[in-house]
Formats: sequence, structure tokens, C-alpha cells
Amino acid sequence: MSDIEEAGVPAREAAVQFLEAALARRAGLDEVMATPATSRLAPRDRAFARALTMVALRRLGTIDRLLAPKFQRQPPDRVITLLRLGVAQLFWLDVPDHAAVSTMVAIADKTKATRSFKGMVNAILRGLLRDGPPADDPEALAPPWLMSRWQAAWGAADARAIAATIANEPATDLTVRDPAEAAALAEQLDGEVLAGGSIRTPRRGDLAEWPAFDEGRWWVQDAAAAIPVRLLAVKPGETALDLCAAPGGKTLQLAAAGATVIALDRSADRLKRVAENLARTGLAAEVVTADARSWTDERRFDAVLLDAPCSATGTFRRHPDVLWIAAPGDIAKLAVVQSQMLDSAARRLAPGGRLVYCVCSLEPEEGEGQIQAFLGRRPEFALDPIRPGEGGAPEASLSPKGWLRMLPHHMAGGMDGFFAARIVRKA
Ligand SMILES: C[S@@+](CC[C@H](N)C(=O)[O-])C[C@H]1O[C@@H](n2cnc3c(N)ncnc32)[C@H](O)[C@@H]1O
Repeated sequence: MSDIEEAGVPAREAAVQFLEAALARRAGLDEVMATPATSRLAPRDRAFARALTMVALRRLGTIDRLLAPKFQRQPPDRVITLLRLGVAQLFWLDVPDHAAVSTMVAIADKTKATRSFKGMVNAILRGLLRDGPPADDPEALAPPWLMSRWQAAWGAADARAIAATIANEPATDLTVRDPAEAAALAEQLDGEVLAGGSIRTPRRGDLAEWPAFDEGRWWVQDAAAAIPVRLLAVKPGETALDLCAAPGGKTLQLAAAGATVIALDRSADRLKRVAENLARTGLAAEVVTADARSWTDERRFDAVLLDAPCSATGTFRRHPDVLWIAAPGDIAKLAVVQSQMLDSAARRLAPGGRLVYCVCSLEPEEGEGQIQAFLGRRPEFALDPIRPGEGGAPEASLSPKGWLRMLPHHMAGGMDGFFAARIVRKA
């Protein structure tokens, strides 16, 4: 019997906590996974709970569409969680149907607030089972307000293709410290080398046990996330400023290229991850805790990277929760911060210096809109158009305007959604 078939009520109770945390706040799933209560779970139950939560998040749009017509009145949130997890098991996990239904009913029966709904949980799940699996409709996978935005920004066909990439768990992408080692490491890691030099591997499980992890010869970084630093093309001995550095994937790339790097971030807590990553890879950077907008340092840099805080809607393949946590008002608020940060980043460029602005967002207000507005208000800067194939970016991502608009379906097997543009100071 497989782990999935054997998982029982405790694993599903953990999934209830995981799904509610994931939908309550950003990084909620990571936080709950790190709690002592979660570490006390049997490893098998923990793995099942995580897998079930991720499937429920990936299919949440479809699941909620199936459930909505079944409610005469909206049940309490906990009952909805039980139903969502029940449906995820019925249609997308290899779990016996009777186990999916009976365990969710058993959990409903355990607390006073949900006990009176256990008949409803049973009836709805059995009814859906009779109706059969839902049709695959990519449009159902994303929240309707985001789907409408993507349709308006990128067109109906691309919006559907973007949404379709939510359904499947992505492979893991790695960046290598020494590009000359890429082919040999790819072989050891059962992966392939992508156009820009990232390794893509279908491996799963504990990264710390993968070859060459301890020696710090690679780090996890989505293929799209590795492209912006390559556009800066820093050379040994140049100075580079990473203005939003944590957890540090791009800092490591800058340092590996031989630059003298300052890694700045507002969050001291997140900067601990940068320090850990530097220690593991044996790379060096000066780590600074400060607000990028008000940092008083007067130094000027050959290369500045601004990987600005954003809605992160482009990261949904790995973090499907971002789509359900994001709210329409967030994008306008973040756009104000991004514009202030761009002005601050530009101030720190040496004459002739170059700046790459990027966001892991699919929203044009956070990408294209920022760069157009910046170039409009700052005539002393110019766009330095990105050339075809630069950084390993897929052809489809290169906009005629000279920036990269990377959409998740542009690369076979998927990539994070990212925007990146390169700017130079004219004098
Ligand atoms: C997209 S993440 C950066 C990811 C990072 N560049 C990497 O590749 O690992 C954005 C970061 O911006 C930081 N941040 C947000 N507002 C900031 C501010 N005003 N000043 C400096 N850092 C800020 C956040 O703490 C977060 O670590």
C-alpha cells in the first residue's frame, strides 16, 4: 500500500491547518510547516498533508466552482476547508474515494462547530463523486479578477496558457556557482542545462541530500529569476548593489560573477538567509539592513539590481497561494513603492552604470508601467534594449520595446512570470 493510501485522519487534520494558513497570509504554509506541531507529525503524514494542500491550492478555482452551486447557505469556513480538501482527493490524488469522504466526515465530527455539518460534507462529496471529474478548463484555475487582468494585458490565448501552468508541480531549477561545471552537475543531478545555464531537474525531496549541495556549488533559483542578473553582465572587480537582496539568489549570482557586492534588504530576518546562502556557497557580499529608499550611503555602483517587492503573481507555479492572497488594491500600493525605489536605485548608479529593474509579477503596472513612467520623468536615463537570446530568455519573452516580459508558458516546462528591463545613465 502506498503512503497516500495509508494516510489517515491525522494527516488530513494537518492538511486542514496547512490550507487555512496558506490562504490566511503570505508564506503561511512555510510558517506552519516550520512549527513544532508539524515537525512532530510522522514524516509520511507530513508529506501527505503538504501534497494534499498543494493540490487543493493548484485546483482551488475549479474546486470552488464545483462547490458553489451545492450551498444553499454559505457554511462556516472550516467546513469549506474540509470540502475543498475532500474534492482535491476525489479528483486529483490517488486516494480511495471512500477514504477521502470518510476521513473528512470524521474530522467534521470531531469539533462542535462542524459536527452538525458532517451530513452535508458527506452528501456533497458523494454527490460530486457521482457527477464525475470536472472538465479541464484553464480559465477556472485562476481567480476571476486576475484572469480578467491577464486577458486585458496579454490577450485571451496567453491568459489561458498562463493559467494552465498552475495545475502541475514544476521541476526544480538550480543556478550553478561556476558555469563551467553546469554540464557535469546536471548529469549528477539528473537534470538538463537550460539556455541561460540553469539546471532543471525532476528530482524531489530534501535538497540537502542532493549532490554538491554541501559544497555550495548550486542554489535553487527559478530559470526566469536567474535571467535579470545575467543582463547586468558584471565583470570581476566591478561594484554591484543588490537593493532587495533577501533571500539572496541574485546576490549569489552577482558574487559568483566576481563583483564586489552589497546585499541590502529591509528585513533583518530575511537577510539571515542571505548570510546562510553566502556561507554555504563560500561567496562574499557586504550585507546591509536598510530601507532602499532612504539608505544614506553615498557610494555609486557600476551595476545596480532592483528586484522590487511586488505582488509576486508570477510565482504561482511554486506558490499557488499567491493568487488567492493577492487583492486588487495591493498592486496600486506596490506600484507606489516600486516607483520610489526605482528613483532611489537610479541615484546610486555611477556614470555609465547600468540598472536592471525586475519583478516576479504578471501585472503590467509593476513592470512595463514602472519603466515607462521612470523614463518619462528621468530624461538622463535611457533604456538599454535587451538583445535576442540574452541571459537565456526565450524568444517569446523579448518585447519589441526592448524589455523582457516573461510569461510562465514561454519556456517548455514553465518558468516564473517576470518582467526585466535594463537602464543606463546617459552621462
Ligand atoms: C522579490 S524579494 C527579493 C528576492 C531576492 N532578490 C532574491 O533573488 O533572492 C523582495 C525583497 O525586498 C525587500 N524589501 C521590501 N521593501 C523594501 C525596502 N523598502 N527596502 C529594502 N528592501 C525591501 C523584502 O524584504 C524582500 O526580501
